[in-house]
Amino acid sequence: MTFLTQLSLYLWFLFIAFSSTFADSDTYIVHMDLSSMPKAFSSHHTWYLATLSSVSSPSSSSISSKLVYSYTNAISGFSAILTPSELKALKNSQGYISSIKDMTVKVDTTHSYQFLGLNSNNGAWPVSHYGEDVIIGVVDSGIWPESKSFNDDGMSEIPTRWKGECESGTKFSSSLCNKKLIGARYFNKGLLAKNPNLTISMNSARDTEGHGTHTSSTAAGSYVENASFFGYAMGTSRGMAPKARVAMYKALWDEGAQLSDILAAIDQGIADGVDIFSMSIGIDGLELYNDPIAIAAFAAMEKGIFVSTSAGNEGPYLETLHNGTPWVLNVAAGTNDREFQGTLNLGNGDSASGLSFYLGNSSSNEFPLVFSGACDDEKSLKKVGHKIAVCLDTNDTLSAQVYYVGNVKLAGGVFISNTTDLSSYIQSTFPAIFYNLEEGKKILDYVKSVPDPKASFHFQETVIGAKSAPKLAGYSSRGPSSSCPFVLKPDVMAPGDRILASWPSNSPVTYVGSQQLFSNFNVISGTSMACPHAAGVAALLRRAHPEWSPAAIRSAIMTTSKELDNTENAIKDIGSNNQPANPLGIGAGHIDPNKALDPGLIYDANSEDYINLLCALNFTEKQIRTITRSKSYNCSNPSLDLNYPSFITYFNSNDTDSDSLTMKEFQRTVTNVGDGNSVYIAKLTKLDGLKVSVSPDKLEFAKQYEKKSYKLIIEGPRRMKDVLVYGSLTWTDSSGKYSVRSPIVATSLSP
Ligand SMILES: *[C@@H]1O[C@H](CO)[C@@H](O)[C@H](O)[C@H]1NC(C)=O
Ligand SMILES: *[C@@H]1O[C@H](CO)[C@@H](O)[C@H](O)[C@H]1NC(C)=O
Ligand SMILES: *[C@@H]1O[C@H](CO)[C@@H](O)[C@H](O)[C@H]1NC(C)=O
Ligand SMILES: *[C@@H]1O[C@H](CO)[C@@H](O)[C@H](O)[C@H]1NC(C)=O
Ligand SMILES: *[C@@H]1O[C@H](CO)[C@@H](O)[C@H](O)[C@H]1NC(C)=O
Ligand SMILES: *[C@@H]1O[C@H](CO)[C@@H](O)[C@H](O)[C@H]1NC(C)=O
Ligand SMILES: *[C@@H]1O[C@H](CO)[C@@H](O)[C@H](O)[C@H]1NC(C)=O
Ligand SMILES: *[C@@H]1O[C@H](CO)[C@@H](O)[C@H](O)[C@H]1NC(C)=O
Repeated sequence: MTFLTQLSLYLWFLFIAFSSTFADSDTYIVHMDLSSMPKAFSSHHTWYLATLSSVSSPSSSSISSKLVYSYTNAISGFSAILTPSELKALKNSQGYISSIKDMTVKVDTTHSYQFLGLNSNNGAWPVSHYGEDVIIGVVDSGIWPESKSFNDDGMSEIPTRWKGECESGTKFSSSLCNKKLIGARYFNKGLLAKNPNLTISMNSARDTEGHGTHTSSTAAGSYVENASFFGYAMGTSRGMAPKARVAMYKALWDEGAQLSDILAAIDQGIADGVDIFSMSIGIDGLELYNDPIAIAAFAAMEKGIFVSTSAGNEGPYLETLHNGTPWVLNVAAGTNDREFQGTLNLGNGDSASGLSFYLGNSSSNEFPLVFSGACDDEKSLKKVGHKIAVCLDTNDTLSAQVYYVGNVKLAGGVFISNTTDLSSYIQSTFPAIFYNLEEGKKILDYVKSVPDPKASFHFQETVIGAKSAPKLAGYSSRGPSSSCPFVLKPDVMAPGDRILASWPSNSPVTYVGSQQLFSNFNVISGTSMACPHAAGVAALLRRAHPEWSPAAIRSAIMTTSKELDNTENAIKDIGSNNQPANPLGIGAGHIDPNKALDPGLIYDANSEDYINLLCALNFTEKQIRTITRSKSYNCSNPSLDLNYPSFITYFNSNDTDSDSLTMKEFQRTVTNVGDGNSVYIAKLTKLDGLKVSVSPDKLEFAKQYEKKSYKLIIEGPRRMKDVLVYGSLTWTDSSGKYSVRSPIVATSLSP
């Protein structure tokens, strides 16, 4: 070897060393085919390490530091830090199926139990022993173990099947767990792989953000007397399944959240033995075979674990939901019948109550009222001074009005508006009350009728029984599911708007003026809050019916949910001007736990049914094996027609022959879990412009667990004129005890 070549080799090594250190390394989640693992390897872990080692450039850091996680249950595979050339080499390795780059994930940022009809005399709570011994795994931002919601008074010993742990870490000792909070683990290797210099401020399962404490206590919080939020929502707080156990898997950090960590959390939860997963997180725009949460949920489903997920907060636009995965429950967010109010006591002795969620204290001081029109001019608002501005909004400028009035620091604001979404403005940092035009008229009349109008504020009023409720929240994401448009999503709606639940006591909940406020409870909104409500209900059903599959539990929740609000009218959609909500917003309707306990019939499905669906989606073998974790599967029976408790079909052909009709057929099988001997009759609502029929329209069961099949046929034009037509099919038994309802959606959208 000449000197020259030695030099160039040296330079080449230098170059390689340089490029592998500084070239764009990324973390990848890699799916492997376990059945291709050579027999020589004692475990999948050693095989993954050997595979990594064989593709790594000689100069690169140690193999074990490249491996981020080796997964066992949630997927077959690992996550690792790879350079582009290493990834390329890996793709040619034996057993490689697929990979995706690690990604950042977003979080879908006491009274609701009563609203759902849960009580200790009858129904789901007593029958299910309040979810006793069911273990809910919450993948979230950690937990505040000192919260009273996680006290274990009166709870029995931890079941011996539980394999979880209470990991110690920063400000978290393993003795902080108890018989309620039975597990606490944390995962941030993926986050650190992305950003090696990151300092994790709270390196333990302790929650510094609040989200995880809130969702865990919503699902399974113990009883806490005298819970309230600055005087609002006073009462005893408790979760949906007050005797279920909680295991926290922290994967969402103040510093960020990575898919690889969430996968590790689910992987561990499956190994630990959770019964239910509550995951108020999601990723937009991924195919099922690229969505690690969907893939991990498939593994969980196969083990009988029920997975509840959030629809997302990107509504009211169509096709915005995430977690539109056929084998999970997808939950939309609704309001409940609790309203937060304030009262304006007028100088003439009259008073006017309006919506308010101001957290400061009331004072009896009277201030002059100044009518300030549209409150859109900061200059003239400044002249109002230490008085109360009365603002009138008839042109959708409320948010600007609230901003201006808050900015110029007056004694307060009275906002009179015709916006349909008044309640989303009411959490103000300065004294304010909000009225619709009708309620506000009294104030306007008073202000205009006397020369020196004045008033005082009173806050912290909570009203139960508000009509109408529930309503679909405007922000709740809508279907159809982009990852699987052939299954109607979301599945159901649950309370998600202004939910009171526990909060870390040192994490500020909000501020008043410039003062930070702290509380052991917080009231927050989002599909994140709806998801744990449904997870808690699933825990009650799991306890009451231990033999039911996740699909059976989901079916029970769906077919018994309500389409009517507390005024017996169709549930309204705040996102569409209080027009009736449709199934692309609320799925089958608002959950009704007591009814779900005893649904009469269920629509069951197992992994084979889901695989038949994946086959019919024309996924490649690699894509399917990514989801099924390389288990051999059989595509001899492809079908988009999953045995699901809802129906969605597309009349969207670009065929110009508009006269000819087309026919869509669905096949369903129901299992009788109600009374042994029973007869069910089909009832269909009308779907405009479509012809719908059921055959047979009568199902006779001789015994429990008997199965019967039927067909639903929808005939319509090749392309519908309307974007959306919907209705429902209800099977009612002759005793009138059971009513098993499925929504039907026909749309001209493109799947
Ligand atoms: C991490 O810190 C080291 C040493 O302080 C620095 O050289 C490097 O550029 C930092 N890396 C990143 C990604 O910030
Ligand atoms: C709750 O509040 C009531 C009335 O103020 C009081 O009597 C009771 O002791 C309180 N309970 C707890 C557990 O603090
Ligand atoms: C309200 O009053 C209570 C008790 O007087 C006090 O502790 C609290 O700080 C006050 N709240 C605000 C926002 O000033
Ligand atoms: C509010 O009133 C204005 C003017 O009357 C009208 O144009 C607007 O559509 C109304 N908005 C709602 C949401 O009713
Ligand atoms: C309402 O707002 C629009 C723009 O948002 C503006 O063009 C229009 O003039 C406003 N109407 C009234 C009556 O203020
Ligand atoms: C799958 O492929 C078949 C045959 O090409 C086609 O008829 C069908 O529409 C495809 N299905 C989907 C969901 O794209
Ligand atoms: C695939 O499944 C069908 C029934 O669904 C069965 O008849 C067939 O034998 C299976 N094929 C293989 C290769 O397992
Ligand atoms: C119909 O045509 C539109 C516009 O060309 C296209 O976006 C859409 O995908 C087509 N729909 C179907 C079902 O082919």
